[in-house]
Amino acid sequence: MIFLKMVTFPVLRPRRLRKSKLVRDLVSETSISQNDLVLPVFIKENINEPEQIASMPGIYRYPPNDKLINYLQDSYENGIRSVILFGIPSYKDDIASSAYDKNGIIQRAVRIIKDSFKDKIIVITDECTDEYMANGHCGLVKYTNGCYVVDNDESLKIHAKIALSQAEAGADVIAPSSMMDGVVRAIRDALDSAGYIDTLILSYSVKYASVMYGPFRDAAYSKPAFGDRRGYQMDPRNAFEAIKEARLDIEEGADILMVKPAHTYLDVIRLVKDHFPEYPLAAYHVSGEYSMIKAAAINGWIDEKTAVLEITTAIKRAGADLIITYYANDIARWIKDGVPF
Ligand code: PBG
Repeated sequence: MIFLKMVTFPVLRPRRLRKSKLVRDLVSETSISQNDLVLPVFIKENINEPEQIASMPGIYRYPPNDKLINYLQDSYENGIRSVILFGIPSYKDDIASSAYDKNGIIQRAVRIIKDSFKDKIIVITDECTDEYMANGHCGLVKYTNGCYVVDNDESLKIHAKIALSQAEAGADVIAPSSMMDGVVRAIRDALDSAGYIDTLILSYSVKYASVMYGPFRDAAYSKPAFGDRRGYQMDPRNAFEAIKEARLDIEEGADILMVKPAHTYLDVIRLVKDHFPEYPLAAYHVSGEYSMIKAAAINGWIDEKTAVLEITTAIKRAGADLIITYYANDIARWIKDGVPF
């Protein structure tokens, strides 16, 4: 008896679409451009030279002078058109007064950037109190019933004041990051009443209480002196709650939403984008997510460029329209130097 072995060949061959770089490029679903990138910049009072941040190799704190302008000029030449500024003041107190000082570190930085670049760069200011509060919290702390709590409604007044002073200095976009309830509405009201109707609000709508902010707190000396931020930032166990937070921010007048961190929360980015596709969505690839790649790269354990491009492409693929990342300059340079993938 003869057994005839039938060899079946696949009729459908998905590999045809992967056969060359040109075909892959032609059919790719996702791409990153310089327009999608926002560069975070730390500005520190009372220094004259940039200082490298120990836990974030390659990232510096800048003085608000020509060193900062030169850095931004180089970034501009790479194709970077948006920056988000974080201030490190020389003075902290219990009401974050250096955050709304006319001559505060952020206000000065915004003015010199706007003087040099005019409308060629979008200046976003992080709006929070933690870097300006002696206790490191994102609002006013009060002592009730034997414990410290961050007083939501009293804090709104300070957040509105900070936002207004940033808009007066010339910020194009205010980015509230405190996770206080009602903060977007409080800021929108303050801006509109003062005539800043065209100043945008990019809300840190979905901000998790994440260990990934560790290097940032090191960079900005903003670790809470007591307690933690779990009483206001979101619980990492929750995804659907993100829909509620995003919806409230939309109702309060946010122009752009954000999910933060990004790499650790790709599912949440997708969820928010699917629910509110008509709103631009930012994702913040945060300090710890930067430092993990950097540390592995420095040790030769991972190829930095490929890792960064894969991760940031994943963030876009998940649904982000724009990405805030400490790798913005590198990515922009890789794009400029040729096809990155
Ligand atoms: C608050 C703020 C933080 C970050 C951005 N805005 C710190 C925090 O919530 O503790 C973290 C960003 C990062 O880790 O890169 N002003």
